[in-house]
Amino acid sequence: MTTSTPVERTLVLIKPDAVRRGLVGEILGRFERKGLTIEAMVLRGMDAALADQHYAEHVDKGFYPPLKDFMTGGPLVAAVLVGDQAIEVVRTLTGATDGRKAAPGTIRGDLSLSNRENLVHASDSADSAKREITLWFPDLP
Ligand code: PPS
Repeated sequence: MTTSTPVERTLVLIKPDAVRRGLVGEILGRFERKGLTIEAMVLRGMDAALADQHYAEHVDKGFYPPLKDFMTGGPLVAAVLVGDQAIEVVRTLTGATDGRKAAPGTIRGDLSLSNRENLVHASDSADSAKREITLWFPDLP
């Protein structure tokens, strides 16, 4: 019997700190070398309204104001990645939220020392991926 895993789409934001540090190619390269495919991608800014929508579940948290300032403070790269179990695979490659605690070998574990300037956002569930892809790429079929 053959087993198959679902091909999924997930949303990734390569955050303003990564763009500023010239790490876009390094980060995208890790996803591509893993076998994920870029289905859509754009370099753009996140304005306050989009930040409030994207981070709807966090807007009442104490860390939200500095997070919003950071995410709206410069250009970022938004991308839709596709592959087998892409949501979990991308979260694993990205590593734990706090770069100081993220495992070596992960993007954050290798390249970040912060829980705010942590280089990458990645959808955390199928529902989040669907919502976030629609938010960032409304024209994607
Ligand atoms: S939670 O409450 O556990 O769901 O939050 P968490 O998943 O740890 O983090 C959600 C996003 O908030 C960012 N974050 C912060 N930003 C600024 N300052 C502080 N102190 C802070 N702590 C967490 C974190 O990087 C997550 O961003 P995304 O874009 O979702 O990865």
